[in-house]
Amino acid sequence: MVNSTQTPLASPTIDPLRGSMAEFARPSGPDLIARTAGIVPYIAARTAASVWPFARVITSAPVTTVHCEVADGSVRSGLNFGSQDYLSLAAHPAVHEAAIRAIRDYGVHTASSAALQGCTDQSRALERDLADLLAMEHVVLFPTGWGAAYGAVTGLVRPDDHVVLDRLAHASLQAGAAAATQNVSYTEHLNVDAIRRVLTGIRAKDAVNGILVISEGLFSMDSDSPDLHAIQVVCREFQATFLVDVAHDLGALGPGGTGHLGASGILGGIDIVMGAFSKTFASNGGFVATNHPGVRAYVAAYGGPHMFSNALSPVQIAVVRETVRIVRSDEGDRRRGALMEAVSILRSALGDAGLTCLGDPSPIVPVLIGRSPLARLACSSFMRRGLFANLVEFPAVGVRAARFRLQVQADHTPAQAREAAAIVVDAVAEAKSLIAATEQA
Ligand SMILES: Cc1ncc(COP(=O)(O)O)c(C=O)c1O
Repeated sequence: MVNSTQTPLASPTIDPLRGSMAEFARPSGPDLIARTAGIVPYIAARTAASVWPFARVITSAPVTTVHCEVADGSVRSGLNFGSQDYLSLAAHPAVHEAAIRAIRDYGVHTASSAALQGCTDQSRALERDLADLLAMEHVVLFPTGWGAAYGAVTGLVRPDDHVVLDRLAHASLQAGAAAATQNVSYTEHLNVDAIRRVLTGIRAKDAVNGILVISEGLFSMDSDSPDLHAIQVVCREFQATFLVDVAHDLGALGPGGTGHLGASGILGGIDIVMGAFSKTFASNGGFVATNHPGVRAYVAAYGGPHMFSNALSPVQIAVVRETVRIVRSDEGDRRRGALMEAVSILRSALGDAGLTCLGDPSPIVPVLIGRSPLARLACSSFMRRGLFANLVEFPAVGVRAARFRLQVQADHTPAQAREAAAIVVDAVAEAKSLIAATEQA
């Protein structure tokens, strides 16, 4: 937060509005510890200027209004558009009850990997719940969504195989691909023809090794979705396997919460589906789903974190079971309706004020700002005004493609959506005039 004695543009040595974390990503020198030192003044300069909006701390459940402590130590209360709890289930009384019952019945810890003795009868029940939701045969659970993505790729892909990813695929999928093989290609975002071209090139040279094509049901930086059916068809043509990550859309969108898969009429028809519980299902954890028992066995045995990390806790399993139940119920439909109403109000209000909301209506509303200095100052301003939302800047997105990512919840009221939009609009205007004044000085 900006304090009264310091303008955000003032900094003695490092300009807190310039530079990015990309500059520190590949340090060099023989001493692994010594070479980390350079990043500290950079973060300190941004923190001192109130333009380091990361690592915030809240003092309650991630509901629609929170008390929030930002990195510079100042505490504000305000509207929470910075948590991923799309159907507002993290504080749902029935979900809490399920968690408490699980502690009574199973304790707090599974005390083993899922590959050994870390599953309870409830873990098996959750696998069945998810298989039903996705209309697929087999489900493998993972301790995190990150682990499910990494495990799905590394469980199946070997060094001579190929991985083809949408260039905006999540870091966990990219990490899995990089760990599995050096034959990794990236295609233009959402472009099915680009996938076809890459597959044609690979198959012209290599008819004997496998190809895994990876995309997402809803991309979280741009709030857009690919043509899943078309990609699956292209994959079949080239004997490639299609994996889709539904972390952001499953539960929150689509008929009965079936996400983009259900909305596209392709539920149960994609080779491999993986997802995370952390956006809609109120818990850490993830899964891989498939119709093929061999894929299930490979992902479980060779997909790292399923075997080599402790299984989901009884509480996490119970929470996800209860949230899946709500997602599939009439209440789930009502919550998705309320969510999309708030999304629509937010997007319209921002658009009417001349701001650009990227992509399609979804729980994620990316507001394109452009240059990082403007985005950093505006972000600082909206937090000071009582709105908490996320800044996304280079290298997570392109150099001049900084944006805010507002994450909407079913419990956000229309009035809160309108207020959030008004705060963003005022904050951007304030930041623009601050920059204009600095340039003129
Ligand atoms: C598309 C996607 N996949 C996987 C993950 C990892 O999930 P988790 O944070 O639950 O480990 C995320 C989380 O940000 C994500 O956005």
